[in-house]
Amino acid sequence: MYSSKSEVPSRAPVTVPDLLKMKHAGRRIVCVTAYDASFARVMDRAGVDVVLVGDSLGMVVQGHTSTLPVSLRDVCYHSAAVARGLASTLLMADLPFQTYASPAQAHASATLLMAEGGASMVKLEGAGVILDSIHYLSERDIPVCAHLGLTPQSVTQLGGFKVQGRDDIAAEKLRRQALEVQQAGASLLVLECIPAALAGEITEALTIPTIGIGAGPLCDGQVLVMHDLLGLAGRSRRPRFVKNFLQGRDSVEDAFLAYATDVREGRFPAAEHIYE
Ligand code: KIV
Repeated sequence: MYSSKSEVPSRAPVTVPDLLKMKHAGRRIVCVTAYDASFARVMDRAGVDVVLVGDSLGMVVQGHTSTLPVSLRDVCYHSAAVARGLASTLLMADLPFQTYASPAQAHASATLLMAEGGASMVKLEGAGVILDSIHYLSERDIPVCAHLGLTPQSVTQLGGFKVQGRDDIAAEKLRRQALEVQQAGASLLVLECIPAALAGEITEALTIPTIGIGAGPLCDGQVLVMHDLLGLAGRSRRPRFVKNFLQGRDSVEDAFLAYATDVREGRFPAAEHIYE
C-alpha cells in the first residue's frame, strides 16, 4: 500500500554523498523533473530524493519539438522557482545545449545555476570532448551528473529520439564512456533509452549511482519527466518507458507517492517499460 501524505515523515536534506550511500545500501534513488515551486513542493512532500530541472522544459513547458532552444537563463529561472519549493529534496539542473562546450564555459554556466538557480548539482550530456568539462567542474566542487545513451541535445546527430546501444559496437562504446565519465569526476550518471541488460552491466561496473529512464530496473534509481508521470505530455505516441501514475488516483501527491514507492520496491519499471 502507498502511504498517505500524513504518514510522510520530515526528512533530512538529501546530499550528493547520500546518493552514493543509497547505491551502496541498495536503496533506489527516486528522481522526477520539475519546473516550478508548486509541483516541487508536492514532490518534496512525497519524499522524492532528487528533482531535475531538465531542459525537457523546452518541450513540455515551452512547446518546442526539441530541447535545443532552451537557454541557460530559462533553466536558471525555473531552477530558482523549483528551489523555493524544496525543503529536503536535492536539486539538480540541466546545462542546456552548447553551454558547456569548453571547461571555462561549463564553469560559468554551472556557477550561474548553482549561485542563482539554487542547484546542488548540474547535469550535462555526452563524453569525449565533454570529459574535460566534467573534470574541470568536479575539481572545483561543482557536483556533476553525466548523461549517456539517448542524449536529447544530440537529436540532430542521432537522427531522432531512438534507443541507443543496441549493437555490440554501440554497447561497448557506452560501457567505455560510462567508465570515462566516472573517472572524470561525475557523481551520478543518467542512462536514457538503452537496453535493460546493458544498463545493468554499466550499473554493476560503476562505483557512482546510475539513474535510468527507459533503461530498465537494474539502475540505482529512476527518473521520469513529470508531465509523463502525470499523463500530461500530450505526445502522439507514448514512449514505452512512460507510465501515467495519476491514472486511478485522485491527487498529484498520490501519483508522486505511488511512483516513489514503485521505484523503491522495484515495481517500476516493469517488463512492459523495458527495451531489449
Ligand atoms: O531534460 C530532462 O528532463 C532529462 C531527463 C529526461 C533525464 O534530461
